[in-house]
Amino acid sequence: LERHFAGGPLAGLKAVVTSGPTHEPIDPVRYIANRSSGKQGHAIAGALRRLGASVTLVSGPTGLPDPPGVETVRVETAVEMRDACEAALPADIAICAAAVADWRVEAAGQKLKKREGGGAPELSFAENPDILAGLAGHASQRPRLVVGFAAETQNVIEYAETKRQKKGCDWIVANDVSPDTGTFGGDRNSITLIGAGEPESWPPMAKTAVAERLADRIARFFGSTP
Ligand code: CTP
Ligand code: CA
Repeated sequence: LERHFAGGPLAGLKAVVTSGPTHEPIDPVRYIANRSSGKQGHAIAGALRRLGASVTLVSGPTGLPDPPGVETVRVETAVEMRDACEAALPADIAICAAAVADWRVEAAGQKLKKREGGGAPELSFAENPDILAGLAGHASQRPRLVVGFAAETQNVIEYAETKRQKKGCDWIVANDVSPDTGTFGGDRNSITLIGAGEPESWPPMAKTAVAERLADRIARFFGSTP
């Protein structure tokens, strides 16, 4: 595999990609999670690898196979995902495509039981680390190119640009998930790339095609900034 992928435009560069949801346990048998198939993140990891990058994919639970030639680290929670990303540094490129749970639950050590006479349990939440912001603001090992995703249902470009500035990442892939695009959970994506010059709106295309095009854009970036 090493030989098969050698010599592409990203040869010699290291990439870390996050993908999929995180699962945050409530108790040993229950969790909360975001909806995410992991298709887009996994496709990006594969596309970067095919251009010659050495890739670590940090993935939450998905039903997807590990992309060929990609070192895949499987995690469950946001904290584990953050730790696995940190362990994968130094890297030249970081792409955060995971749908990370914004909060974790103060989990119970034993299965919560229904109570005699009814009544729902109270859950208490803590904020999860922001992995993208942590990489973009990394004190000692900031990757040269840090790319985030923003799934929005309205004011897509404006909200995504605000998110890019707040997180401190270089590029953000704004993903229009409004119901009329019909893309959420499917195989296609409708995106605008923000931060790489003027915003670029790409026509709706397969997630695999978005991944190839993004990998090409990244190769162009590294080709023009030695
Ligand atoms: N992200 C992350 N770690 C988190 C939350 C988000 O790395 N704890 C990353 C996602 O992978 C994505 C980007 O941040 O690349 C934007 O995620 P999003 O959920 O849209 O942004 P939030 O800042 O969490 O804002 P909100 O959910 O309130 O819209
Ligand atoms: Ca969020």
